[in-house]
Amino acid sequence: MKDFYAAIENILLTSDPQIIQLKSLRNLMMHSLNANDFKLSCVETLLAGMETEDWDQPDFYYHDKLNFSVRMVIWPAFYENNPHQHKTWSVTGVFWQHLKIKTYDLLAAPKRLRVNQAIEASAGQAGFLQPGCIHNIFNPSHQLSASLHIFNHIDYAQPEHNAIWYPAPRKFNLSSGALERAMHVGIAVCRNIQNKKSLQLLQRIFAMAPCELKLQAAHAIYQQRADLGKNMFNQVETFL
Ligand SMILES: [Fe+2]
Repeated sequence: MKDFYAAIENILLTSDPQIIQLKSLRNLMMHSLNANDFKLSCVETLLAGMETEDWDQPDFYYHDKLNFSVRMVIWPAFYENNPHQHKTWSVTGVFWQHLKIKTYDLLAAPKRLRVNQAIEASAGQAGFLQPGCIHNIFNPSHQLSASLHIFNHIDYAQPEHNAIWYPAPRKFNLSSGALERAMHVGIAVCRNIQNKKSLQLLQRIFAMAPCELKLQAAHAIYQQRADLGKNMFNQVETFL
């Protein structure tokens, strides 16, 4: 992940106009999300955060001088947030499954929002929003989806200063079950990338997961190493 953060920093330190920087950041995001090593590093970053108490989708990274953060958001099935407008730019990539991003025009009289674009994006695709673009994100699938973001901040300490919501942030507690959803995505990503690192990550998830997710992790381990997987299933059996 360090290379990813350094690459963001390098782009933002160029004297390129903002639109060129945003295109470079989008390309970096797309390139990264298509690399298996990067995907596993993201899972590793999720797991490292879980070793601290009260895990609630923390930032992966925050650069205090350039005032940007990197964050993964995991979207429950059919979840849609309310339209909102960041006061600064942001770059979004789809890490897992699918997302639909809608952008809106704010009409004056009567004051209302009108959809001007709806973009469906799958894992590995990325885009950027310029300051002031009103948008929202929807997970159109019956499974979890996940996005990776680079956010620019006006005020990191008071996130409510960074965005205007229409009409308000959706009152759904995304904290509830966030840990389990993150583990679920971690297992799914590791299941698709079979190598030594993904096996290690699956074992780490297995060690900290609740029983049902242990079974999923054990199954993914079994697909790579039947002997290890059988051992994990036997361990789960003792919890049943
Ligand atoms: Fe947003």
